[in-house]
Order: sequence, then C-alpha cells, then structure tokens
Amino acid sequence: MNLTWSHAVLNVRDLDSMLDFYTGVLGFEVTDRGPIADGAPEIVFLSQNPDEHHQLAMVAVRKDDDRPNSLNHVAFRTPDFADVKTLHDALQGIDGIRVGPISHGNTLSIYFNDPEGNGIEVFWDTPFHVSQPHGTPWDTSLDEEQALDWVRETFGADETFEPRDGYYERRRAAAGG
Ligand SMILES: [Fe+2]
Repeated sequence: MNLTWSHAVLNVRDLDSMLDFYTGVLGFEVTDRGPIADGAPEIVFLSQNPDEHHQLAMVAVRKDDDRPNSLNHVAFRTPDFADVKTLHDALQGIDGIRVGPISHGNTLSIYFNDPEGNGIEVFWDTPFHVSQPHGTPWDTSLDEEQALDWVRETFGADETFEPRDGYYERRRAAAGG
C-alpha cells in the first residue's frame, strides 16, 4: 500500500459565500458540480492542481452553528514565497477572517479560517528540515532572503536542523525507493 493524499470534502452552511472565498481569495476553480443523485444536495468540486480532479469538495448540508471541531486544519503548499505574503495581506482586509504567520522551520506558513471557521494553512517550503513540532511567529514583511536568514537563526541551533534534501533522501531510501 502506498496511499497519497487526494482531497477533503467539507459540509458547509452557505455554499455561495464559501465558493466566493475559495475561488476569489484562494484561487480554486470549480471543476464540476451537481447532485450526486436525484433530489440529493449538490456537491461542488474544487481544484487548482491540473492532475487532480478535486482537492476539495463542498456539500451544503451543514446545519449547526458550532465551530468545526474534528478537523484542525487543511494545508496547501505554494511553490512561491511571494504568494504567502500576498495572501497574508489580502486576508487582512476580509471581515471575519483571522490570519497569523507561523514558521515550522521547514515551512513559512500562514494560518487562517475560512468563512465557516474551518482552519486553513498555506505554506512555502524552506530548504530546511527540523524535527517537529516547531512553531514560531514570523514577520511577513521580510523578503525571501531575510526570511530564510531568520529561519536559520531561529531553528538552526536545533540538532535536527539540516538541508531538506538530505532528510527526504533518507526517507525515500528507507521506503525502498
Ligand atoms: Fe499544518
């Protein structure tokens, strides 16, 4: 068995506002939508990975007003450091969205909530590995070079801090490939 992550499906209250946020702010595209059977609620599929039909889907069946309580957060990777900063700034101006930057040493991340309170992380990989968990707030006004200097200063004294390539080469070797 070699399972790879594909998608998550969220039960939502207000499909239109959730779709506005995920398409307009986060850049997802609706790849398909419709009821799964006659009379069943519509399911909307979202992706921004051309190799994945959907990374997220939403079904408007949620009735409660509670905070989501079983899923801590879903996380998305971006290859561009600048995206994390741009998104951080864009989220600041949206009512009801709280955003906070956290670095795990191996990432520079922002954490925020969607309009229905689901936790989201968007992160950029640093070229480093450090054992987890680690988490320290970082300054999103830094440029890429400054941010990487800060990561080295902040996490570099940990004995497990190393180049990310070395860590993942060992993981692949241990997995037999
Ligand atoms: Fe995470």
